[in-house]
Amino acid sequence: MPAKIAVVGSLNMDLVVRAPHMPIPGETVIGSDFRTIPGGKGANQAVAAARLGAEVTMIGRVGDDDFGRAQLRNLGELGIDTTHVIVDPEAATGIALITLDASGQNSIVLASGANMRLAREDINAAQVTIVQSDVLVLQLESPLEVVTYAIDIAHAEGVKVILNPAPARPLPEETLARLDYLIPNESETALLTGIEVTDIHSAKEAAERLREEGVGTVILTLGARGAFLVSAEESVHVPGYKVEVVDTTAAGDAFVGGLAVALAQGQNLAEAARYANAAGALAVTRLGAQPSLPTRQEVEEFMKGRS
Ligand code: RIB
Repeated sequence: MPAKIAVVGSLNMDLVVRAPHMPIPGETVIGSDFRTIPGGKGANQAVAAARLGAEVTMIGRVGDDDFGRAQLRNLGELGIDTTHVIVDPEAATGIALITLDASGQNSIVLASGANMRLAREDINAAQVTIVQSDVLVLQLESPLEVVTYAIDIAHAEGVKVILNPAPARPLPEETLARLDYLIPNESETALLTGIEVTDIHSAKEAAERLREEGVGTVILTLGARGAFLVSAEESVHVPGYKVEVVDTTAAGDAFVGGLAVALAQGQNLAEAARYANAAGALAVTRLGAQPSLPTRQEVEEFMKGRS
């Protein structure tokens, strides 16, 4: 049986340009290679999970425009259920202006558009789907009040909740206590805990702090260095894979989707993190958000022969 995953989150069109370096304030940099690529943390995580074999439902909003239609077409082609993606006539589809520098690092400016109009009524409409899922995955490119509402519904029904707190903002204590898994990166961890993650020691300290605040399991992503996991049973560093970086966009989304699928299929935490690391590593070797997300077969091939 495939894992059943519901994703509440954003759908953006990414407007991507390459530049020799990031512009400083007031500077004009001549870039190249402009592309429009489907993205948005929510939709990316939905695509990541679907490519890895899960049965996925996306819950969110797009505008009644070409970018929104392109997103819906793309998700539909991947077999993702978009019944609960509302087409909102009052706002434009979210967009992300992404600049990629020569080393593949990105900087992103978001115009959230329809994503920030996601409402409690949209969650109510998808409630049956949410409570019948193995896992609910969320991020923070949607209104916090609606994200916490969806978390409450899933938690009350025993559905496992994974929150990727990106982009970071402070979270209510009662929400932290309802999370089975929290997956922040280093900068999100710093905002949530006040602890700068500079090495494995500070990663452990920050993850433990989040557990003390009520989170079930903390999975701190460390970029190329992999992930640091702290649960009630274990505290372990799972190293990342070395790959050639083309574009880091959506690496975190690949990780979250990979972890959701692996956990829903019964892998233990450390195995699931290794699988998620592999999905993230493959994503950074390719350009763009959704087109970079690997299939199950690609992840399994990649992991063969690598410890
Ligand atoms: O995580 C990457 C995503 O962040 C991009 O696809 C962009 O849309 C922003 O939401």
